[in-house]
Amino acid sequence: MKKTEKIAENIISRYRKVRREDLIPILQEIQEAEGFLSKEAIIRVAKAAGISSTKVYGVATFYDNFRFNPRGKFHLVICNGTSCYINGSKLLLNRLKDELGIEPGETTSDGIFSYEVSNCLGGCSNGPILIVNGEYYLNVKPERLTDLIDSIKKQLQAP
Ligand code: FES
Repeated sequence: MKKTEKIAENIISRYRKVRREDLIPILQEIQEAEGFLSKEAIIRVAKAAGISSTKVYGVATFYDNFRFNPRGKFHLVICNGTSCYINGSKLLLNRLKDELGIEPGETTSDGIFSYEVSNCLGGCSNGPILIVNGEYYLNVKPERLTDLIDSIKKQLQAP
């Protein structure tokens, strides 16, 4: 049994019977434990609930906060709340897509970068806000974002 399946099994085993209303809490627990929902975990949950994995996947994709890929070594969060949007978060998102070639929720093929879009992070007067592995960056402009990505790449190439 793969590690991801063990994690799912342990969480599922805490439920006497997996009912439909248990799906979201179970998926949330799995994501908390593993950082994302693997295909194997979804299959396990579906089996326990007695429904198809397509249905479980459908439920999970309905909510923005579920991820289906492991996070990158560097995980970025861009606030796209109203205030950050007005201050240019869309430009950051466009730049990120150009720089990394991935969509929100995806991870680069080398496993280095992933990113997600967030609702208001509570720092509206300093937006747009970017978080890189938990570190906050305020009033971020696209050029600053490119510099950050370049410096991470350089840092990884350093011997
Ligand atoms: S809208 Fe981005 S911090 Fe509030």
